Amino acid sequence: MTDSESGFLERLSSHGISRSDFLKYCSALAAFMALPPEAGQIFADSLEKAPRPSVIWLSFQECTGCTESAIRSHSPDIEDLILEKISLDYQETLMAGSGAQSEAALHDARKKNFGKYILIVGGSVATGEDGIYCCIAGRTSEDLLKEFAEGAAAIITVGTCASYGGIPMAFPNPTKAVPVSKIVTNRPIVSIPGCPPIPTVMTGVIAYFLTYGKLPELDSLRRPRAFFGDTIHDRCYRRPYYDRGKFAKSFQDTGAQKDWCLFELGCKGPVTHNSCARIKWNQGTSWPVESGHPCLGCAEPQFWDAGAFYKALSMPSDPLKLAGAALATGAALGAASALASKARKKKAKSVHTSMTLSDLKKQSDDTEKSGGKK
Ligand code: SF4
Ligand code: SF4
Ligand code: F3S
Repeated sequence: MTDSESGFLERLSSHGISRSDFLKYCSALAAFMALPPEAGQIFADSLEKAPRPSVIWLSFQECTGCTESAIRSHSPDIEDLILEKISLDYQETLMAGSGAQSEAALHDARKKNFGKYILIVGGSVATGEDGIYCCIAGRTSEDLLKEFAEGAAAIITVGTCASYGGIPMAFPNPTKAVPVSKIVTNRPIVSIPGCPPIPTVMTGVIAYFLTYGKLPELDSLRRPRAFFGDTIHDRCYRRPYYDRGKFAKSFQDTGAQKDWCLFELGCKGPVTHNSCARIKWNQGTSWPVESGHPCLGCAEPQFWDAGAFYKALSMPSDPLKLAGAALATGAALGAASALASKARKKKAKSVHTSMTLSDLKKQSDDTEKSGGKK
């Protein structure tokens, strides 16, 4: 056993985690990512031996929620240990140093690991007024992003702000915020949207990169398919109620108390791609819909401007913007046609949902006809 392997196993043990717990975690990760069963053992073996790559984490126009999500310290857990497998050389919120010291660490890490480091970006990039709305050590976010993207082996955008613009880009967008992909077009980018993103998804992508030396398979919006391939609606435990036309009408009614579907309370689960319904939050404790709140669509482009959080998708007004946005990217085509076919079969709530379903279907047809450009 090498020093690196024994060191990692010792750290597991010092956190009260046995090797068999670690193996179980790796197997669960492999299952979440729809990898073959042997991938769990491959993850475990590789993570024990993997060298610690340098990671530079830049924070631009953001609220720190993504960082909090990534490092939430409910208790030491295996995800913390995965993060120990990287050398986090710069992260403003977490590092002990500040000012000139932290700037020196940032530039040293870039120089020493040029072409090999992973660049994580949280927050959108401010482009208005020559970028003056977001400056770090006198440099604009756009300038820093260009410099540090140049030497990155891969870029991970964490959160909806960095991936799609998110709340900083919401109307009227005074800072002219843009997502990372608008500035960097020549480097591999993997996007992990969500406001904030699920920590297991972040560590899963890092574990995959450490194990296989490449990014996982991505969809057309650069999201890892393993975590964003399904909609919330596809995996929701309230789905049987949706199929039977059982909908809560208010947050206090009997339907809400019985966990009926939250579609009529504005749930955007049918057009939102994320793993909340499978992985849940806070170490698998719960997730928004399980705690009684509709999905707001926080992991899709156009979040926040699509708005209409408590209006049902069936209303032919603002909420369709969200569906339209997802459809325009081709992301929700499967969900839309699944919804349409389910409604036709079940005839559940046909009057209520037919307007939206036909709107969704029409948009999906238009999008298909235009080759996904619409
Ligand atoms: Fe905050 Fe949400 Fe933006 Fe993350 S995506 S920085 S949680 S506003
Ligand atoms: Fe679940 Fe929302 Fe779909 Fe209802 S509409 S089944 S609450 S995801
Ligand atoms: Fe966001 Fe919906 Fe999950 S609001 S946290 S994608 S349930």
